[in-house]
Amino acid sequence: MQTPAMAAPLPATEQTFELVLARSQMRLPVEPGESMADVLQLAGIAIDTLCEQGVCGTCATRWLAGAPDHRDSCLSPEEQATHVAVCCARSHGPTLTLDL
Ligand code: FES
Repeated sequence: MQTPAMAAPLPATEQTFELVLARSQMRLPVEPGESMADVLQLAGIAIDTLCEQGVCGTCATRWLAGAPDHRDSCLSPEEQATHVAVCCARSHGPTLTLDL
């Protein structure tokens, strides 16, 4: 007989965070397992994507405030200082503001 597995607490980077769109004046929750690109596209915000794995840089979007959890392998540190790959990045904090 198997015992039910205990659900491990989600790491902080897998928590829900709020995407704040500065120009559109929208606030969108990003749940664990969702990408910012998916949430944006579902809200009707056109985001070009290609690899959706943080490799190509197609989805790089300017960020304005917050602490992005960069998970791409294509943006340089200088590029990450101003842009975030919305297909794979998350947020270290409760909100992340994008220039959208
Ligand atoms: S779609 Fe390729 S890095 Fe995001």
